[in-house]
Amino acid sequence: MRTLLALLLAAAPAAAAPGAGARAESLLRRMTLSEKLGQLQQLGGPVGGGPELVELAAEGRLGSTLNVRGAKALNAIQRAAVERSRLKIPVLFGFDVIHGYRTVFPIPLGLASSWDPALVERAARLSAREAYADGLRWTFSPMVDVARDPRWGRVAEGAGEDPFLGAALARAYVRGYQTSDPSAPGTLAACAKHWVGYGAAEGGRDYNTTEISERTLRQVYFPPFKAALDAGALTFMSAFNDLDGVPASENRFTLNEVLRREWGFRGFVVSDWDAVAQLIAHGVAADGAQAAREALTAGVDMEMDSRLYGAHLPALVKAGRVPLRTVDEAVLRVLRVKEALGLFAHPYADETAAAGPPDAAARAQAREAAVRSLVLLKNDGTLPFPKTVRRVAVIGPLADDAAAVLGSWRGDGRDSEAVTILDGVRAALPGAAVSVATGVAVTGGTDAGIAAAAAAAKDADAVILVLGESGDMSGEASSRAHPDLPGRQLVLAEAVLAEGRPTAVVLLNGRPLIVPELAARAPALLEAWQPGTEGGDAVADALFGDADPGGKLTMTFPRALGQVPLYYDHKNTGRPFEAGNHYTSKYLDESNDPLFPFGWGLSYTTFALRDLRLAPARIRRGGRTTASVTVTNTGARAGDEVVQLYLHRTASSVTPPVRQLEGFSRVSLKPGESRTVSFPLGPKELGFVGVDEKWTVEPGRVEVFASTCSVGGLEAGLSVAP
Ligand code: BGC
Repeated sequence: MRTLLALLLAAAPAAAAPGAGARAESLLRRMTLSEKLGQLQQLGGPVGGGPELVELAAEGRLGSTLNVRGAKALNAIQRAAVERSRLKIPVLFGFDVIHGYRTVFPIPLGLASSWDPALVERAARLSAREAYADGLRWTFSPMVDVARDPRWGRVAEGAGEDPFLGAALARAYVRGYQTSDPSAPGTLAACAKHWVGYGAAEGGRDYNTTEISERTLRQVYFPPFKAALDAGALTFMSAFNDLDGVPASENRFTLNEVLRREWGFRGFVVSDWDAVAQLIAHGVAADGAQAAREALTAGVDMEMDSRLYGAHLPALVKAGRVPLRTVDEAVLRVLRVKEALGLFAHPYADETAAAGPPDAAARAQAREAAVRSLVLLKNDGTLPFPKTVRRVAVIGPLADDAAAVLGSWRGDGRDSEAVTILDGVRAALPGAAVSVATGVAVTGGTDAGIAAAAAAAKDADAVILVLGESGDMSGEASSRAHPDLPGRQLVLAEAVLAEGRPTAVVLLNGRPLIVPELAARAPALLEAWQPGTEGGDAVADALFGDADPGGKLTMTFPRALGQVPLYYDHKNTGRPFEAGNHYTSKYLDESNDPLFPFGWGLSYTTFALRDLRLAPARIRRGGRTTASVTVTNTGARAGDEVVQLYLHRTASSVTPPVRQLEGFSRVSLKPGESRTVSFPLGPKELGFVGVDEKWTVEPGRVEVFASTCSVGGLEAGLSVAP
């Protein structure tokens, strides 16, 4: 997509319209080295700003801030930059608007479960409008790290384990934040992060080292970033991890060779928080001077939080150890982005338009997003509960927990504005008697409350057991070596389920949980993630049948931690598992199968697929075809199905995954209604990263699957002629 911005950034500065690259060039000519380095400095501050940031802005030594919020505080800094500094270059104000600002949407892993890019784009659009109203112009989102290890707490922030879905959602976020005109009011610059491989942290431990082959980088980890770039993402963030021994924040290969030379990125790269200084801890820089030189010359333009560029680059440039040209290029990139955002023309925020509490329209949008993110993992017919139930028990430590509904990176979201599951149930059934019992704490504590919880269940016509992780158990620096139901919650669940009442378990969590016992025992299991401001209403909509839960998992739920990493697009191996054959790929003590596979999710109705067709079924290398399949709602209720298209190449020069997602479509169908959905298949979908690390399509047979999850479905054969 050629956005206005892409055109702007691609324009040769000299030929650009007044204001575009020309302004950046002309400013650069007039800047001192100190002013140049100022543009490369991003500093955090308290929400309200503060005198240091104002002073630095007045001296032309501040390029950007993070975490300062509110039109008034930001305007104070901006006035210093625009009215007091020598060159009047505006400051760019950033913040982590990850899944909402004041109105909080489900965590990104939840939003991804909607398989609905348009919904994600609308969520990003509203978030941008709210953040803009508070003076912000840049969000450190989307986080597009492919993630395959549920121990890693940051899986909450991404789209899950698949690059194709991740790419589709990366585009949606960028379009939502930036629109086609990022200088327009209500827009934010997007930041694709964390470039790159951060999701492969060894052992799922945050910030840990990664070991990824170039092919896997290109095949699995790069595509969502490339999609963000193609959608016009103005900025990228360099990651904390090292890749094959080279930290991502001084990685010439990923930053300069791939991102800039190969892909033509013209925006700027900001380091992750303190990542330039952390090059010392990584053991690749002896001191701050070396860290600054390595990061800048490798392609990190702006330094977040640490102050090593400003401290050391003057001497390094003077000594000829860092070319001034490298500093200039970084400054130009930053200035061009400021220009593209219209900051020179409109530096100030409107102090009368601050973001207020979510209004009815924002709440409706958040509720719809939360409903569409729900994944019905199991249902023996218990759900939906009839709305005629008179006595309801809402049990569990998260039943009335607003923080668990909002999740990590909640922007400016407030507990007081969030609808808990208990609130949602009460609002859905105003005439019912709703009893509440916490039972146990999320972690630690005693079993003393279990008896009362079981007694509440015994007396109820419908029991809603709300279990999972507290709001701060996922997200950054929140890895878990035991990603299961924490504390004594399973004991509580067993006691409540033993009462034998119609019971649904609602899970609130920021990662796939390893819960085989719970899944075996619970009659119904609804994965609600951390569903945001309207989470409780959305869950109640699904529990009582006002909405059909139609989301699908975008990350595999393992049965056991020993299976991790476990993802659907694994290789077949030379000895795929064969029952009864000892020397095949398996565990002695656990099945290879997940608890719930990628793409899994039930509905209150049923669907059938038929007539998978390829037109044509034989193409030339480089040619195109279309796969189509018809889906029918075979049940008695309206509902949603996500039709998924997977490929498997046979006899390929590089071992192919057993299946690879190359198309999806979420459809809503009335009872008896059918729809035919089509998926284009061309070089992009049929190709892969070949032995020479280049994209290639090879002749041969490709198996095409249309299914409603990553397992099973219809199959057709495509022949690709030489
Ligand atoms: C995180 C980033 C985030 C940044 C600024 C870092 O610790 O890794 O994702 O954007 O902080 O808050």
